[in-house]
Amino acid sequence: MTPIEQDRGSWGSKAGFIIAAAGSAIGLGNIWRFPYVAGQNGGAAFVLIYIIFVVLIGLPVMITELAIGRHTKKNPWGAFELLFPKSVWRFVGGLGIFTGIGILSFYAVIAGFTLGYFFKIIKGDFSSIASGDQAAAIFTAFTANPYLAISLLVAFILITGLIVAGGVSAGIERWSKILMPILFVLLIVLAIRSITLEGASKGLEFYLKPDISKINPGVLARALGQALFSLSLGMGAMITYGSYISRKDNLVTSAASVVFFDTIIAILAGLVMFPALFAMGLDPAGGAGLVFVVLPSIFAKMPGGILFGAGIFLLLAVAALTSTISLLEVPVSYFVDEKKWPRKKAVIWMSVAAFVMGLPSAVSLGASDGLSKLPLVGFGFLDLMNAIFGNYSLSIGSLLIAVFAGYKWGAKVVIAEIQKEGVAFQLKHVWTFLIRFVCPVAIAIIFVYIIVTGNYF
Ligand code: PHE
Repeated sequence: MTPIEQDRGSWGSKAGFIIAAAGSAIGLGNIWRFPYVAGQNGGAAFVLIYIIFVVLIGLPVMITELAIGRHTKKNPWGAFELLFPKSVWRFVGGLGIFTGIGILSFYAVIAGFTLGYFFKIIKGDFSSIASGDQAAAIFTAFTANPYLAISLLVAFILITGLIVAGGVSAGIERWSKILMPILFVLLIVLAIRSITLEGASKGLEFYLKPDISKINPGVLARALGQALFSLSLGMGAMITYGSYISRKDNLVTSAASVVFFDTIIAILAGLVMFPALFAMGLDPAGGAGLVFVVLPSIFAKMPGGILFGAGIFLLLAVAALTSTISLLEVPVSYFVDEKKWPRKKAVIWMSVAAFVMGLPSAVSLGASDGLSKLPLVGFGFLDLMNAIFGNYSLSIGSLLIAVFAGYKWGAKVVIAEIQKEGVAFQLKHVWTFLIRFVCPVAIAIIFVYIIVTGNYF
């Protein structure tokens, strides 16, 4: 093995890959972002569209990214460069790498908040709260301290960087394997508590009984962005992770398991949030702070609330960590592969970039004006980053990846990659139809729609 190959690394096993990819997918996207975006966009109607997009767009794009990654064994830029040297397709990879840093910058801010909340809960800050409004006041005070938000951002990027510097197999797999199942069990317990609160049924209705009249171009765009964000698609994270999978593994069943676990966790998070939210008379459209207000309100009404509260925020931080690892891994693998940088150097520089870009996001939620309410858009800097990198960039990236696979590289080549070593791909005609027609057309229509209606954010 050359030193460069050693620097790339590979997965220990198929199960190891699924756990790591699910670790990338499952994170704040499911538990922080999904409920608040669903709450702002009509509840159950959003959930319905979200699930349709996960199946018809997310799954085929995930299969495609994994196939590109495994075929080329490269980072997103290098993958397109290897397949069509010097063509414009490299820039799809380039956009992905930049998007990775952009998402990491605000994602690590929220991840830092979860760490901060872990300590706050242990300290007993929530033991005497009696209403949702009190929990909301605590969150407002928490975000109003810029030094705290920045320190937590630094802490989170530092932990991510240390693990990514440690290499793929050893670092990522070990962590995800043990902790993700515990998160799942804790969420089930919380969902049961939330659903059995007095007044919870209105929340269930809001979350599960679709009101089709609430669907509009904005809801479609947000559901698309959320599906891609939650599945880590459209920026090459799955190209990068796919580059570490063995030829013998079945990409389709691997992708399907990741999609399945990710969706279950998101749905479960909604079952935790909405019943409690309505029981406490909070506003479902309350925005990015929702999880930090609703969860502590539930713990206050549980025996052993401190234990559960501390547990869930710690595991949330870990779930976020397995996602930030993949966000950082994308630009790092680019510099390791293409620029032949040592892994450590790439980690240091990319972490610094994410930190600098993350600074305005870190202080934006608590700022009394300026960054918390930008001129023109009317909302905060973190929300703007979230919309640009977390929604639009991923949607454009996925559109281009679908066009690339369906028309440029060719569906036949992708299918051949999937069927390597005798693996059967039964739904290859369905996949071909989805990737050539459904994905690009649906994403393009949504874009035209929001441009025409001006419903950007
Ligand atoms: N999917 C992750 C989450 O839901 C976030 C993420 C997006 C990670 C894009 C990698 C790439 O938390």
